[in-house]
Amino acid sequence: MKMAPAIPSLGSDNHSGVHPKILEALLQANMGHSPSYGTDPWTDKLRGLCKSLFGPSTEAFIVFNGTAANVLCLHGLVESHQAVIVSDVAHVQMDECGAPEKYIGCKLLPLPSNHGKITADQIRDALIRRGDQHYSQVAAVSLTQPTEYGTLYSLKELQDIVQVAKAEGLKVHIDGARFIYAPPGLQCEFLDLTEELGVDAVSFGGTKNGLLFGELCLIFDREVAQSFKYRRKQAMQLPSKHRFVASQFLALLSGSLWRDIATEGHKKALYLREKLSALGPAVTITQPTEANAVFARFPKAWIGPLRDHMFFYVWDEKTFEVRLMVSFDTTYQQIDSFIEKARVLNAAQLP
Ligand SMILES: Cc1ncc(COP(=O)(O)O)c(C=O)c1O
Repeated sequence: MKMAPAIPSLGSDNHSGVHPKILEALLQANMGHSPSYGTDPWTDKLRGLCKSLFGPSTEAFIVFNGTAANVLCLHGLVESHQAVIVSDVAHVQMDECGAPEKYIGCKLLPLPSNHGKITADQIRDALIRRGDQHYSQVAAVSLTQPTEYGTLYSLKELQDIVQVAKAEGLKVHIDGARFIYAPPGLQCEFLDLTEELGVDAVSFGGTKNGLLFGELCLIFDREVAQSFKYRRKQAMQLPSKHRFVASQFLALLSGSLWRDIATEGHKKALYLREKLSALGPAVTITQPTEANAVFARFPKAWIGPLRDHMFFYVWDEKTFEVRLMVSFDTTYQQIDSFIEKARVLNAAQLP
């Protein structure tokens, strides 16, 4: 059966297909038989690679999806009577259908965010009623890097948060569904954002960054790492044919592919932002563009025709702020044709 040709989309970086180099790695891994459940040579190599990229204490575990990565990372860090500080727009808070609350039984404590970020001072102020048996005890902070609004916590902002967390005995988790954008954006290495920074767990995204599917839980706390494999199995997140996820991550992380995808994605997002802004006062850019997403507001009447041309999400159904997201395979021509459509709508002076 022949499927209709895919229409390019600015909906999400998981609307795109698989990066050709990752598909090639999958084909290479598709040879003969190999032991299952993470005992294959690909997974072994990936574990070593993760130690060199993220720090020698890193234990890397493959899971199927990002929600599970977040839940399993947090499951190692908190108990059911405890709470996790998050931003009010965090994926764990807004888009995981209460999965952390259901599987861990813990409470999420959302703090108001600015461009998707929370601060060290807010975290310090939220640490009330310590030791009070009537109150869920804050035991961890979960940050998204880059944030849901395509912004980056700076190294200083992260260091301040980790410092408060450590002083107060809190664990630190990072939801890194798009973590590949952080090192080029902050001009640092992965290591500066993981073991060197002092975080306890990172959900490291693959699916949004060119993989067919697969995410990593990077665990830096030895005790948490020891029990992780049991909790992953109980959560039904242990893939049997591990080599097909490990080989994809090896293709992404062994050389420069991850950096190339992130650098290009950011460049294209900046291009889209610039072209949109140039349309004039009908367009307002609402967030800094530090990864692969552009957030904007434009006349409501544009949304239907523009979405028919190239799909995107209305992020805030009250303000009609929209999210335009670039994927590894988004082209400048596609962006130009989207802008041309917006230019025509702008010229028509729709309300
Ligand atoms: C920031 C962030 N974290 C986690 C996820 C969860 O990924 P999944 O849909 O694979 O569960 C997403 C997916 O959109 C995301 O954007």
